[in-house]
Amino acid sequence: RRHRSQDRLDEAEAGKSVKADEREVDPNTPFANTADSDPALAKNLEWARQIAAKFEISQIGVKGWKDAIVPDEAKLDRILSAAGAAQVAWAQRSATERAEVLLRVAENLEAHRSELIEVAGAECGKTIDQADVEVSEAIDFAKYYAASAKTLESLPGVKFKPAKITAIVPPWNFPLAIPAGGILAALAAGSAAAFKPAREAGRCGAVIAELMWEAGVPKDLLPLLNLAERELGKQFLTDDRVERVILTGSSDTARLFRSWRPDLQILAETSGKNAIIVTPNADLDLAVKDVVNSAFGHAGQKCSAASLVILVGSVGTSKRFARQLVDAVRSLHVSYPWDLAAEMGPVIKAPTGKLLRGLTQLEPGQHWVVEPKQLDESGKLWSPGVRVGVEPGSEYHLTEYFGPILGVMRAETLEQAIEWQNATEFGLTAGLHSLDAEEINYWLNNVDAGNLYVNRGITGAIVQRQPFGGWKRSAIGSGTKAGGPSYLFALGDWEAQDLPH
Ligand code: SER
Repeated sequence: RRHRSQDRLDEAEAGKSVKADEREVDPNTPFANTADSDPALAKNLEWARQIAAKFEISQIGVKGWKDAIVPDEAKLDRILSAAGAAQVAWAQRSATERAEVLLRVAENLEAHRSELIEVAGAECGKTIDQADVEVSEAIDFAKYYAASAKTLESLPGVKFKPAKITAIVPPWNFPLAIPAGGILAALAAGSAAAFKPAREAGRCGAVIAELMWEAGVPKDLLPLLNLAERELGKQFLTDDRVERVILTGSSDTARLFRSWRPDLQILAETSGKNAIIVTPNADLDLAVKDVVNSAFGHAGQKCSAASLVILVGSVGTSKRFARQLVDAVRSLHVSYPWDLAAEMGPVIKAPTGKLLRGLTQLEPGQHWVVEPKQLDESGKLWSPGVRVGVEPGSEYHLTEYFGPILGVMRAETLEQAIEWQNATEFGLTAGLHSLDAEEINYWLNNVDAGNLYVNRGITGAIVQRQPFGGWKRSAIGSGTKAGGPSYLFALGDWEAQDLPH
C-alpha cells in the first residue's frame, strides 16, 4: 500500500502542495501554536513534520482529526443518530465476536507501536519510555476487556443492557492509554463510544481512532468528535442517547458536566495529591528510585504522580538519604522527546497560575534543595524542583500542582505520616516504603486512597493487576475502577430475568 504521505511529499517536491501541507498542522496542537516565533517549538514542529513524512500514521492522524470536526448542532445530532443505530447492531453481536474485534485492535496497536510513541512525543511531549508504557497499557486494556466482555453474558438471573452511547472524554497527559481504555471498555460492553479527545491531544486521538477503525470497529460506532465549543460539548453530554460518560480530568470539569445534567451517569477519575511515606525500615535506595520516578515521570503531569514524600523518624534526618535524593533529581536529563536521552520532558504549556506559583514561590519555613529553573524560551522546559519544610495544612501540602515539583515532609511516627497523607481532599494513589510487615499492615488498614502501592512507585497502574480509580474527590460516580473486574458492569443497566426452575 502506498503511503498517502509519500504522495504528498511527491507533490510537494513538484512544487504543488506546500500550502496544503502547512494547513495540515493542526492549529490546536500545543507545539504548533507558537512555533513561528519560538525556535524550540519550531524544532519540535519540524520533528513532527519529519514523522509525518516518514509514517503514514501521522498523516492518518491529521486526516482523522480533520474529518472529525463538528461544525454545528445538526451534524452532531446526525453523528449521534448514526452511533445509536450502529450500537444496536453491535450489541446484537455476541460477546465473543466483539472480543475478536478488540483483539484485532490490540494487534494493530502493537503493529504501530513506534508511530504511536512518536505522535505522543510530538504532540504531548511524552518521552519515549513514558509513551512506550502507554502503548502497552492500551494493548492490555484491549485484551483485558475482550476477556471481560464474556462475563457480561454469563450471569444467571440478570440481563445486561449496554448504554446506547458512552461519551469518552479523556485528558491530554495519557493521550493514548486513557482514551483507548475508555473506548475499549465501552465497545466490550456493547455500547457505542463517542470519542472527544483532549484539545491538546487531537492528533493522538485521531491515530487511536483510525487504528481501531482499521481493525474492524465500525466508524459510526466510534465517532471522533472535535468539540472545541462549549455549547456543542453541552449539547453532546445532555443528549439522551448518551447514557454514560467516562471522564478523566479535573474535579471542576466533572462538576461542570453534572451542572449541565444532574442525572448524568458518570465514571470520572479526577485530581490527586499523592504522597509516598518512607519509614526507617525501608530499602532506602529503592525508595529514592521510586520517589523520583513517581514525582518526575512525564514532568509530574499525572494525576497519580507523587507530589509529596513523607519521611518518618530517622529517614528525615538521614544525610545519606537526602544526598541520594538530591543527586538523583539533579541528574535527571531534561529535554524534548526528540533527544533520545531525555528522562524528563516538557510541561504541556508554559506554566501560569498555580503551577507557576508552585515552581517559583515558597511558603514560610520552606526552602529549595533543588530549585526548579526554566530552561528555554518556550517556557515549557523546566528542571525538577524539590522543596523541604512542607508543613501540614500548608498550601503545598493540600494543592495539586500537576508539574515537576516534589515536597518533603518530616513526620515523627508512621501514624502522623498517614494522617498527613490522608489529610487532603483527594484520595487517588498512595505509597509506602517499608520492609516491616506490621508497618505495612497498619498502613494498608489506615490509608484512604484508591490505589495503594507498597515498595513500588505510585504511577503506572497495571491493567487487571492494579485496577485504577480514586476515593474522595479523586472519583465521581460509581467508584468502579478502570482495568478491573467490575468496570464493564457500570457501562449499562441490569434487568432481572426469570431464573429457570
Ligand atoms: N493509570 C495511570 C497511572 O497509574 C494514571 O492515569 O499512572
